[in-house]
Amino acid sequence: MRKQIVAGNWKMNKNLQEGIDLCKSIIALTSEVTREVIISAPYIHLATLVDLCKGTNLKVAAQNCHHKQSGAYTGEVSTAMLADLGLDYVIIGHSERRAFNAETNSLLAEKIDAALSQNLKVIYCFGETLEERKSNVHFDLVRTQITEGVFHLSAEQMTKVVFAYEPVWAIGTGETASSEQVQEMHAHIRQVITSKYGSEVAQNTSILYGGSCKPSNSTDLFSQTDVDGGLIGGASLKVTDFVSIIKA
Ligand code: PGA
Repeated sequence: MRKQIVAGNWKMNKNLQEGIDLCKSIIALTSEVTREVIISAPYIHLATLVDLCKGTNLKVAAQNCHHKQSGAYTGEVSTAMLADLGLDYVIIGHSERRAFNAETNSLLAEKIDAALSQNLKVIYCFGETLEERKSNVHFDLVRTQITEGVFHLSAEQMTKVVFAYEPVWAIGTGETASSEQVQEMHAHIRQVITSKYGSEVAQNTSILYGGSCKPSNSTDLFSQTDVDGGLIGGASLKVTDFVSIIKA
């Protein structure tokens, strides 16, 4: 059975005290929740959040990592360091990092290896831009992002990877893909995974949707057959919105 997951991606928002307050409120309001709940915060908050979340339902994720374990890489953080904090997950390949930091599928494949080598689970993000959708290359593009990002992994390693489909045109824009568009792409993603790993691995892989998911559309989105939860940006910064999405 694949996991149902809601992950909040705070991006570059919240100072430490605001993050602590938000985290405590989420913990208080989600003790009965059966979905897995993840919060992904800036690096400098992670140690504190891991401590706060010990013994609770919440898991903590980094938003990025470096692909090497140590060395002369000023300003970077390795997966060995993240694992040492007791972190559960790392987000890899978010569209903002692909766009603003020129992260390619092959670099992301190295980051995924670095994360798995430290027993961190991965949320692997991908998705098309509006131009790519309009040119009708979105299915092929997503196939390539998956093939080049994770197809070197073993079936056993695939159990540590959660997928997040994030159409770039719906991220932070208020524009949401329709539930039909989302289901169509998620079914495609599961088919791509099946073609390489077989249906048991594909059926056990959680595929999250990200892109202006909010309380008003999360129930509809999460009720689609191949949608196993969401990666939430803007709406994860407000406790009431985030908790209502978690409970959708
Ligand atoms: P959004 O961001 O919910 O603000 O659109 C989603 C994401 O980037 O994870």
